[in-house]
Amino acid sequence: MDKAIRNDIYEQAVKWVLEAGTIIRDEMNAPLSIETKSNPNDLVTVLDKRIEAYFVQKIKEKYSNHFIIGEEGYGDSVTSLDGTVWIIDPIDGTMNFVHQKRNFAISVGIYQDGIGEIGIIYDVMSDILYHAKRGEGAYKNEQELPQLKSNVKLTNAIIGMNHFWLCENRLVDEKTMQEFVRKVRGTRTYGSAALEFAYTAEGIEDGYLSLRLSPWDVAAGIVIVNEVGGVTTDIAGNEVNMLEKSSILACNPILKDDLIAFIQSGRK
Ligand code: IPD
Ligand code: CA
Ligand code: CA
Repeated sequence: MDKAIRNDIYEQAVKWVLEAGTIIRDEMNAPLSIETKSNPNDLVTVLDKRIEAYFVQKIKEKYSNHFIIGEEGYGDSVTSLDGTVWIIDPIDGTMNFVHQKRNFAISVGIYQDGIGEIGIIYDVMSDILYHAKRGEGAYKNEQELPQLKSNVKLTNAIIGMNHFWLCENRLVDEKTMQEFVRKVRGTRTYGSAALEFAYTAEGIEDGYLSLRLSPWDVAAGIVIVNEVGGVTTDIAGNEVNMLEKSSILACNPILKDDLIAFIQSGRK
């Protein structure tokens, strides 16, 4: 992607993300109509929908030839990553948004012909913007994030993962994952995949594992994690397909082979 074009898109995207954050903060204390989607714990609110519709309207006005993949369905029916594709989660961590009013993020990844060019993750309540352009480093607000540390082992690693690995897991034997959580230094569950990617890029988590995520959960995070030398694959080490759901492993590259070997040893 041409750098001048990319800078223009990036500046617009950051502006819209910050504006969307203001809308959320201004309106989040009004009564929210909360619905459920695939199961009783899969929540969506009127603000998730409103924010996605806001992005779609802005993007279509300014960039009529761009495509949009959005969680709430206001975007396009995208079947190929050809061209410029915005991949948007208007509120990642809706359960946190509804119950805790914090620890949720807006996630926007912008891909050109399948290559992640721009990643933006906005922690709305902390007012922290993680952002990256491919090849130009990753930033937390104005501060450039350093490359990931090279002295991490599984035994001193902090890994983001949730309880589904231990109890409702169709992919990996639960006993193996119990051994895994005992082997690593600690685990964390923040309830927002986008924030877990941001924390992995920041190096405050050494890796993040998820059994099943959608493109909008990971599109921005992959770009940001790449820029600090991190890697993202599925749990078998395959490249993530940005048009499908998949398992996810994002980590410091020094841990990748050990993480994959551990998980694969318990594959069902
Ligand atoms: C969810 C969050 C959560 C992850 C779920 C996602 P949503 O996104 O990222 O951390 O474990 O799998 O669906 O539904 O709040 O946008
Ligand atoms: Ca999400
Ligand atoms: Ca969402």
